[in-house]
Amino acid sequence: MLYIGIDLGTSAVKLLLMSADGKIENIVSKEYPLFFPHPGWSEQNPEDWWTAVVEGLKELTATCDKSQVAGISFGGQMHGLVILDEKDGVIRPAILWNDGRTTKETDYLNQVIGKDKLSKYTANIAFTGFTAPKILWVKENEPDNFAKIKKIMLPKDYIAYKLSGIFCTDVSDASGMLLFDVEHKCWSKEMMEICGVNSGQLAAIYESADVVGTLKPEVAQELALPETVKVIAGAGDNAAAAVGTGTVGDGRCNISLGTSGTIFISSNQFGVDKNNALHAFAHADGYYHLMGCMLSAASCNKWWMDDIVGEHDYAKAQSPITKLGENNVYFLPYLMGERSPLNDPYARGTFIGLTMDTTQADMTQAVLEGVAFAIRDSFEVARSLGINIERSKICGGGAKSPLWRKIIANVLNIKIDRIESEEGPGYGGAMLAAVGCGEYASVEEAAEKLVKIIDTIEPEPELAKKYEEKYRKFAQIYPTVKDLFRQI
Ligand code: XUL
Repeated sequence: MLYIGIDLGTSAVKLLLMSADGKIENIVSKEYPLFFPHPGWSEQNPEDWWTAVVEGLKELTATCDKSQVAGISFGGQMHGLVILDEKDGVIRPAILWNDGRTTKETDYLNQVIGKDKLSKYTANIAFTGFTAPKILWVKENEPDNFAKIKKIMLPKDYIAYKLSGIFCTDVSDASGMLLFDVEHKCWSKEMMEICGVNSGQLAAIYESADVVGTLKPEVAQELALPETVKVIAGAGDNAAAAVGTGTVGDGRCNISLGTSGTIFISSNQFGVDKNNALHAFAHADGYYHLMGCMLSAASCNKWWMDDIVGEHDYAKAQSPITKLGENNVYFLPYLMGERSPLNDPYARGTFIGLTMDTTQADMTQAVLEGVAFAIRDSFEVARSLGINIERSKICGGGAKSPLWRKIIANVLNIKIDRIESEEGPGYGGAMLAAVGCGEYASVEEAAEKLVKIIDTIEPEPELAKKYEEKYRKFAQIYPTVKDLFRQI
C-alpha cells in the first residue's frame, strides 16, 4: 500500500508518497505566499494552503497506482489561528506561529492570569505565537470577526477538515494552543473561559496515528483517489519530524533547522520545566516531549543569502568558510523576535564585531554560528533540568549543509546523526498514516523499522573548546542590547 505525508510548512507544502516499506516514491512541493502586513505580523490564507494541497496531491499521485493509496496524514506548522464562520468560510487570514502582534495579550495572560495558573492548566505559559493570545487579540481588535467564530482550528486541521469533513485535531498540535491540558489530554475549561470560547468551537481530539475519517466523496472524485482513503490525525510539524527521524520513546533528541529552529526531546513521562522556558507538549508517539523553538533558523540564512547577498547557491557561498572557531563577527538571529528561551518579541537581528577586514564569508559564517548558538541556549535549559543529551538527529532544509551540521555538532559538543530521509515532517506524516492504517503496530515500531542513520558527525575536542569560548561571548550580547531593542 501507499501512504501520503503532507508537511504544511510556512513557505510551501511538501507532499511525500511512501511505500509500506518506507521507500520514498515521490515528493512534490508547492509554494504559497506569506504576508507580513505590519512589522512582526505574519499571515497566510488557508485557501492558498488548500489550493496547493489539491494541486500537490494530484501531481504526487499522477503516475502511481491510485488504488494502492491507503492513508493520508500530516505534519503541520503549529499554533496558527484559523477561524471559520457558520458556513465554514474562513473569517480572516490565519495568524501564524511566528506572528508577534500579541504582546499585550501575552503579558495579560502571563502577568494578570499568572504563569503559575497557566502552567497548572496547560503545562505551558503564554508566548506571542501561541493560539490563545491570538484569540484574545481577535476578540479585542476585531470583535465582529470574533462574534462570527464557529470553529477554531490549527493549519493542518483545516486541511484534514477539507479532505474528510471531520473537525479534528491531535494531541501534539493541540498542545501549542494554550487551551489544552497537556497532562490529561483534554481542553482546559479554565482556558476556554479566559479566552471566551466554548468546547463546541474546538475540535475533537485524537492521538496522532488515529484514523479520523475517510475522503469526502467529492474530494475523492476531484483527486481521482478511492473514497476509502483514510485521513489520519497527524501531528504538529515538530512532533511529525521527530517521528520521521525516529525521535520517539524516551530521552531521544532531534534538531530541526527549518524556517524555525527546534530542539525536541522525547520523554515517556509528562514533565514541566519549572521556568516554562521549554514547551511541555504531548508527542505523536502517545507520550510527551519538551521543546525549545527559535523563530528564525534556516530562514536567517535564506534572508541573508537571497535578500541581502543575492547568492542563491548556498553551498558556493559557504565554500570559502574554512576557519571554524576563529570568527570575530557574531550574529543574533532574532529576525522575528525570539521565543525559546528568551520569550522576547522585541528582540531583533544584529551583527556585532565588524571590522574593515570583515568579509562576506565571515558574515555568512556568523549567521550559521548565531543560529547554532541560539539553539545552544535552549540546549542549556535542558541541561539545567538534568537532561543529558549526548547525540541528536537533525532534519530540515538547513541540515542539508555539511558545514552547518559540523558547526552545530561542535557548538553543542554532541554527536549529530544524519538519517537517510531528511524530509522530517512529511516522512513522519506518511509514517503516521501507515500506523493508522495498521501497517505497523505502533509509532515506535514504524520508527524502528523505517528510520536509518547514514552517518554521524563527531564533535572535535579542539573546535568544541573554541566554540565554548565563543558561546560564552555570544551569551553576553543579548542581555547587553535587550533594552535597546524595545526602544528600536
Ligand atoms: C513550534 C513552532 C514552529 C512551527 C514551524 O513551536 O512554532 O516550529 O511549528 O512550522
